[in-house]
Amino acid sequence: MKFAGYQCSTCAEQYGPDRTIYVCLKDGGNLDVLLEVGGIRKQSSLKQIRSSSDGSMWRYLPLLPVDDPGYPNSALRAVGWTPLLRAERLGGELGLNELWLKDDGRNPTASFKDRASAVVVARAREIGAETVVTASTGNAGAALAGMAAAAGLPAVILAPRTAPKAKVAQLLIFGARVLLVEGSYDEAFDLTLEAAEAFGWYCRNTGYNPFTAEGKKTAAFEICEQLTPAGSKSSWAVPDALFVSVGDGNILSGLHKGFKDLLELGWIERLPRLYGVQSSGSAAVANAFRAGSSTIEPVKANTLADSIAVDLPRDGIRALRAARETGGAVFTVEDEAILSAIQALGREAVFAEPAGAASYAGVVKAVADGLVGSEEQIVAVITGSGLKDVPAAMRAAGEAMVIEPTLPALRAALG
Ligand SMILES: Cc1ncc(COP(=O)(O)O)c(C=O)c1O
Ligand SMILES: [Zn+2]
Repeated sequence: MKFAGYQCSTCAEQYGPDRTIYVCLKDGGNLDVLLEVGGIRKQSSLKQIRSSSDGSMWRYLPLLPVDDPGYPNSALRAVGWTPLLRAERLGGELGLNELWLKDDGRNPTASFKDRASAVVVARAREIGAETVVTASTGNAGAALAGMAAAAGLPAVILAPRTAPKAKVAQLLIFGARVLLVEGSYDEAFDLTLEAAEAFGWYCRNTGYNPFTAEGKKTAAFEICEQLTPAGSKSSWAVPDALFVSVGDGNILSGLHKGFKDLLELGWIERLPRLYGVQSSGSAAVANAFRAGSSTIEPVKANTLADSIAVDLPRDGIRALRAARETGGAVFTVEDEAILSAIQALGREAVFAEPAGAASYAGVVKAVADGLVGSEEQIVAVITGSGLKDVPAAMRAAGEAMVIEPTLPALRAALG
């Protein structure tokens, strides 16, 4: 078995693989999943994965802490291996020679969160869990509801009442028990922990369940593999800098884990600089980064990017570490810049929800601030589809013109 147990990211306490445990019992720190790297090296190779015909994140099964989950040809097996698009137009506008967009809105439930939920559902099946539960700003819940539906597992989702309607609709359509909490995401989070304990449910909460980061790391694997030219044998390519939005900080810490796994295996030669992007209205991790602090002070989140509206990021410390250890940063962008980013991404045929576009707004700001060089290879991870939040898209796009169905009216409208 590749899964060797857990290690606390703050006090280094270790726990065995047979336990169902979420955070460190000593200090509440986030747990890193430990893998049997020697065993992985023996059983798998870069070349073997490269030749896999599996067009999903499951091509990296040898590097995941779960066994083959079954459910062939289901949505669970369709997660990941999303397109990495070369954004020549936007790169040109910004003076960047090589800008890439990892379009994770094209996952089965239309967000990056499918990666985490797929691995959590695989784990839930292995430990015989009868019900899975999560708190969510919307996407993690939709992802868990979708993956649980694919595996025939009951799911309970607690989301803030203010979650965008499209996300709530997905939860309901996927057959989850949906409870909209009259309160914030953070309040839903705390209630979920109590409920999981009281009812014996397996809890997927982001920045709490150690397996979410293990799913999220697969995007790092894909980016390296997709950037590697065909025929290249010795190691995979690594971008210079990677940008992703930060809510709880678990995508950032998961990507960091993915690059570190590859480095440990000797499949890449260095780590990319990791940049986390928050909205200025939800800036707890960015505040800590700027202050040079290693603790996170909660904020009162208020941003149109609902997916990253988090008062107290639950994986903030590992997210800070991801940025600091790689020479990156965590910084903020304004909501107006996020709306502009939604519009700009449209020029590359990428439709992003606000939190998905925040990474690109971060690239724009990083260029202005001189954080990236024009010859560097830059990747922005687009974490959610614009179809998730149509009102936000309309705010970015403006209104369409209405005309009479006649050629003169059309001519007049076209000016
Ligand atoms: C579209 C989207 N982007 C980014 C994030 C932030 O991820 P994390 O909370 O792991 O930082 C989320 C989380 O819900 C999301 O749904
Ligand atoms: Zn600990």
